[in-house]
Amino acid sequence: MLDDGTVAEIDRLAAPVMRTPRVGDAAQIWRIAKDSQVLDTNSSYAYLLWCRDFTGTSVVAEVDGRVVGFVIGYLRPESPDTVFVWQVAVEQAQQGLGTGTALIQHLLDTVAPHGVSVLETTIAPDNPGSIAMFGSVARRRGAELAKAPMFDPELFPDNHEAEDLYRIAPIDLEARK
Ligand SMILES: CC(C)(COP(=O)(O)OP(=O)(O)OC[C@H]1O[C@@H](n2cnc3c(N)ncnc32)[C@H](O)[C@@H]1OP(=O)(O)O)[C@@H](O)C(=O)NCCC(=O)NCCS
Repeated sequence: MLDDGTVAEIDRLAAPVMRTPRVGDAAQIWRIAKDSQVLDTNSSYAYLLWCRDFTGTSVVAEVDGRVVGFVIGYLRPESPDTVFVWQVAVEQAQQGLGTGTALIQHLLDTVAPHGVSVLETTIAPDNPGSIAMFGSVARRRGAELAKAPMFDPELFPDNHEAEDLYRIAPIDLEARK
């Protein structure tokens, strides 16, 4: 009989299943965002809407039936060849195991056949984990990673850092590693 600690470690190391979010996942997505202490926590209602209306551009990672990570995004209305990643997060215990990269790769595999060739996201300058993860995705796709200023702190009504735009292109299914 395995003890609880061993079972938890086996779960942690299990390869997550990537799937489309359902409305019933929104509460757990909200919890992961809140617990990350890095992301802006949007209202629980916003995550419900996302899990209803943007499932084609969002993915959850599940281990042993539990959602441990998510990415939510949308196609830019003015540039439908571009998927904008709004938020991505992985539970702390599951970080560093490739789940974040796998979520983004799964998203790109889903949208690329529909003509999406660009990924955009914004990242605050003090988030090395996120910068490293998107850098890793760009390398694995053989794509360029370009950075440009986007939202200055003065644009935010609250105390918010700058958000830089990161652009990964071209997204090419053939080049996936
Ligand atoms: C960013 C985040 C989603 C990465 O998820 P993850 O599952 O830990 O990432 P991965 O294990 O797939 O790692 C991807 C790459 O980034 C690197 N990396 C991950 N976290 C890192 C860190 N804190 N510092 C430096 N490098 C890091 C890994 O070494 C790996 O590089 P490699 O592919 O060259 O080996 C996760 O750290 C997280 O949820 N952070 C809090 C929320 C957040 O910041 N979201 C992004 C907002 S823009």
